Amino acid sequence: MSGEPRRSRSRRAEADADLGPQYRRSPNPDPDQATSAPETAGFTTEAIDAAAREASRRAPAARDDAVLRLVAVSRQYGEGATVVSALRGIDLDVARGELVAVMGASGSGKSTLLSIAGGLTEATSGQVVIDGELLQGMPQKQIAQLRRRSLGFVFQDFNLIPTLTAIENVTLPLELDGFSRRVARRAGREALASVGLDAKHDAFPDDLSGGQQQRVAIARAVVGGRRLILADEPTGALDSVTGEAVMRMLRSRIDEGAAGILVTHEARHAAWADRIVFLRDGRIIDETRREGAESLLAGAR
Ligand SMILES: Nc1ncnc2c1ncn2[C@@H]1O[C@H](COP(=O)(O)OP(=O)(O)OP(=O)(O)O)[C@@H](O)[C@H]1O
Ligand SMILES: [Mg+2]
Repeated sequence: MSGEPRRSRSRRAEADADLGPQYRRSPNPDPDQATSAPETAGFTTEAIDAAAREASRRAPAARDDAVLRLVAVSRQYGEGATVVSALRGIDLDVARGELVAVMGASGSGKSTLLSIAGGLTEATSGQVVIDGELLQGMPQKQIAQLRRRSLGFVFQDFNLIPTLTAIENVTLPLELDGFSRRVARRAGREALASVGLDAKHDAFPDDLSGGQQQRVAIARAVVGGRRLILADEPTGALDSVTGEAVMRMLRSRIDEGAAGILVTHEARHAAWADRIVFLRDGRIIDETRREGAESLLAGAR
């Protein structure tokens, strides 16, 4: 594990509040099983973490609307003198029906946060819980399956497969997951239509403009009713009209019950979110809810 400094008790208390009532780090997480429940005053970091892990593991999604939960997540790259702390103690919940915008300067850790939330990068320390399932310790195969079924990713650089057509790029995750070609195609056509690309099903990425490639990537992220959509500057390559249409589509997916994180540099796109989280040097330095965001970003939408 990393050399992260231990979190102070008051920091812990704040994190506990964030965990919500059913996740609060209880001294007795399961009355049937707890044998060595520490007294509140004597909580050790290990006991608290173990209780949180246990609570997270057992928590059925139905009891809680957090689709994604990051608890004290840190990530370091490299080691020794050259170590880079990309994330430092991030606590973040994203609920069903909630879109969280993440803003921050280049290098502040936004893409690292998305990558960890999507199980593509491992946290150096802390916990990542998706739909009540703790990612740490989960076999890679199961993580890959969870990604295919529940997660939609829009990468900063699109990540389309150049040898597949637009519709094949969109339907690949569904087909990998065992859906019939017919069902996958139908879902793929709908997803492409929703980003205005009905006419480009059979085009290869090289024959599409940057904005069109971006829209294929977005269709791939939302196809098949994903529960968690992680979008890294999805509007970066789009003109403002298309960017707005994409935001509207993303918002409607979220309103239908998905959860989402949107990394953006643009205030008018962040204004579509329910919450805006500001990162600096790997830490959340500020957070604004929609009401606050609306006055902060007044007129931007
Ligand atoms: N694979 C890696 N190896 C080493 N360092 C990395 C790696 N990925 C990210 N970093 C470093 O971690 C920090 C956070 O990077 P990250 O890509 O998360 O930032 P970002 O906020 O997404 O920036 P941008 O707005 O430029 O996309 C940076 O200092 C970056 O150099
Ligand atoms: Mg980035």
